[in-house]
Amino acid sequence: MGKYIIAGNWKMNKLPSETYDFVKEVAKVTEGAKCEVVCCAPTVCLAEAVRAAKETHVKIGAENLHFEDKGAFTGEVSADMLLDLGVDYVIIGHSERRQYFAETDETVNLKTKKALEKGLIPIVCVGESLEEREAGITMDLIAIQTKKAFAGISEEDAKKVVVAYEPIWAIGTGKTATADQAQEVCKGIRDILADLYSKKAAKEITIQYGGSMNDANAAELLSKKDIDGGLIGGASLVADKFAVIVKAAK
Ligand code: PGA
Repeated sequence: MGKYIIAGNWKMNKLPSETYDFVKEVAKVTEGAKCEVVCCAPTVCLAEAVRAAKETHVKIGAENLHFEDKGAFTGEVSADMLLDLGVDYVIIGHSERRQYFAETDETVNLKTKKALEKGLIPIVCVGESLEEREAGITMDLIAIQTKKAFAGISEEDAKKVVVAYEPIWAIGTGKTATADQAQEVCKGIRDILADLYSKKAAKEITIQYGGSMNDANAAELLSKKDIDGGLIGGASLVADKFAVIVKAAK
């Protein structure tokens, strides 16, 4: 379907002083990868990450950005700042940001539009909580999150967006969605995108699964038709484990 992308999400882990060597190690152990390999790092690690990734196949991503160009937004980071460093990707609307930092479907949409306007590739996260899954409203919720994230975005731009389906109950819990559960929702997302745009566009959009994906379960998840990669938290912090996931993405 879409282009295969395996992206690490370091979250609030790794120090700037560890970053150069770690990204070099990731580049070494994922040499010859058949998919795009991305490390999304904390803001303060990005300069070192970009320096280490230079002349390798590894791309670097940020974990957040602000939707305004510049101004009085203490502590925030703009798209231009990320571009100036040489960053290619940016995670938007991760459930931890929605939960702890008041990210909403509206700010996700504004940030996605800003990333696209500036030429960053947004990795837009959607996902349901355990209560929502148990209430049987997973696809309703995913449809709302997806439609709101893509509001006002042209078909041409939509094709550049990466969607990461991350069930909140599977993040950092060791509880992975089964490959069939993950496939079902990723296919649902592709159907929503086909309705919003076209079947052709929906096929070109990369849809990742994320949530306790690791070296042991990646091959099965990635074998599913509508899963075009992964957004990896914990397992992206150990280069060898991350490499196994990258090798599973063919
Ligand atoms: P996890 O995190 O792999 O540690 O579950 C995934 C994510 O939150 O992106």
